[in-house]
Amino acid sequence: MKVEALPVTKGNYNLEDYQQTYHNFDWAEVEKSFSFAETGRVNVAYEAIDRHALTHRKNKVALYYRDPERDEKYTFKEMKEMSNKAGNILRQTCDVEKGDRVFIFMPRSPELYFAALGAIKLGAIVGPLFEAFMEGAVKDRLEDSEAKVIVTTPELFKRIPFDSLPALKHVVLVGENVKEEGPFIDFNGRMKDASKKLQIEWVDKTDGLVLHYTSGSTGKPKGVLHVHNAMVQHYQTAKWVLDLKEEDVYWCTADPGWVTGTAYGIFGPWLAGASNVIVGGRFRPEAWYQTIEDFGVSVWYSAPTAFRMLMGAGDEVVKKYDLSSLRHILSVGEPLNPEVIRWGVKVFNLRVHDTWWMTETGAQLICNYPCMEIKPGSMGKPIPGVEAAIVDDQGNELPPYRMGNLAIKKGWPSMMHTIWNNKEKYESYFMPGDWYVSGDSAYMDEEGYFWFQGRIDDVIMTSGERVGPFEVESKLVEHPAVAEAGVIGKPDPVRGEIIKAFVALRDGHEATDELKEEIRQFVKRGLAAHAAPREIEFRDKLPKTRSGKIMRRVLKAWELDLPTGDLSTMED
Ligand code: PRX
Repeated sequence: MKVEALPVTKGNYNLEDYQQTYHNFDWAEVEKSFSFAETGRVNVAYEAIDRHALTHRKNKVALYYRDPERDEKYTFKEMKEMSNKAGNILRQTCDVEKGDRVFIFMPRSPELYFAALGAIKLGAIVGPLFEAFMEGAVKDRLEDSEAKVIVTTPELFKRIPFDSLPALKHVVLVGENVKEEGPFIDFNGRMKDASKKLQIEWVDKTDGLVLHYTSGSTGKPKGVLHVHNAMVQHYQTAKWVLDLKEEDVYWCTADPGWVTGTAYGIFGPWLAGASNVIVGGRFRPEAWYQTIEDFGVSVWYSAPTAFRMLMGAGDEVVKKYDLSSLRHILSVGEPLNPEVIRWGVKVFNLRVHDTWWMTETGAQLICNYPCMEIKPGSMGKPIPGVEAAIVDDQGNELPPYRMGNLAIKKGWPSMMHTIWNNKEKYESYFMPGDWYVSGDSAYMDEEGYFWFQGRIDDVIMTSGERVGPFEVESKLVEHPAVAEAGVIGKPDPVRGEIIKAFVALRDGHEATDELKEEIRQFVKRGLAAHAAPREIEFRDKLPKTRSGKIMRRVLKAWELDLPTGDLSTMED
């Protein structure tokens, strides 16, 4: 397929460099940027914050924070001190030690970042939880990880079933007038007097850093463990792909509850010494453009759903703001529509650069660099030091244009270290030939550009968030009226996919719109708003295999009016 390439923007990293480094790039060279190359020990929080506080960047703004109530900024020196204070609180009141799991469950705020960096400075593993999670989702994650400490707000604490989590010992509350009794610790109160000096815990590069839970097509969410070594790739991709330079003001719109919000909301930009904009509150086109104008954002990393919503808000809105600071835009999480790229060129006079990666991969792998020609609709090419291919189910590489499994040769620095408590699951990601198999299907063209085709499994991507159908189905069948449920992703022009549930009711329940809404609310309250099905369809019976497994493939075919394929395993 011939697609016209859009003009190239000038970046940090030019095309000749790219072509030269592509085949003989050695990650060991990048490792030399960090202390472990000399001392054998390391700590990402030191490299991302403290190191800059010792240089000319000391008084440079590291964090610009804004939400409807707050407007604050912190220099690298202040970030160092605040994270030291937070580290001291966690060490002194909660006995946090290397390897302990410290979960953070709260909306974006400066305190979230102080606590996360403070915990990392102690060698703890940080588990960020998206604030929209409800009790069931929170419990699954805290239980599986055996978290020792949770940092949260008094409001969100109501969703934490503390008494049924024996490993959970301390609850650090970030709020006003917190009373310290039982497991509760008053974060803000203690921050006032905590020491600005902290003894950092130096760790090995293979020691745990963050634990992100993510969904597959079966079973409960899985804890993807990343280690300090991931910094090598966070740092390098911040330079190559985010194209961060000294003077940049960078804004990543992702919440740290998702991997983009840690890898490229915390580590990448700060390892590169950039000023990082963090905005809380809800999505509103005006507020987003205002953010770019007010902070002079130059590099902006967001997601297709957000771009589509901005596009939907119309071009007139864009014209009300001075967005001349913008020079580089990137996208991740779902297929980036060619239309969005064309819209970007029209309204910002800039291309939107797609990047492909996953929670498990820890950092960007296949990208459109600033220096590259973009083929709209393609995710770009692998970064130097990463070997990607399309393989068949036996791990054999396929030639250009053949669709197959998108696979990456093992050995890139940010690859997950393990799946928490589930070595078997971890091993299931790999195929002969040392291929990590992503679960995405794609093809490669003759110039080495990769083209995303879809998920191979039933994982749903809705508004850039990954939802496992099993989790939603399990919650649905907890509702007293639901006998059986099957959940699929239904294509949607704005959200990529929406969650659609097919439900068979128990006898004695009437299929009404009120009941649909009640079921929807039930999932929303029990799991999370983004996991609640936008559409529910009642059916008398759901297609199942003889062994009783709901055949989502058939549900999808029904929905899309496609042939149902082989039905030989279906029960009568
Ligand atoms: O299906 C791919 C899709 O998002 C999945 C990974 O989701 P998650 O672990 O939540 O991480 C999202 C952000 C890193 C992938 O398996 N995906 C991610 N980026 C793209 C994408 N699909 C198409 N194009 C992309 N650029």
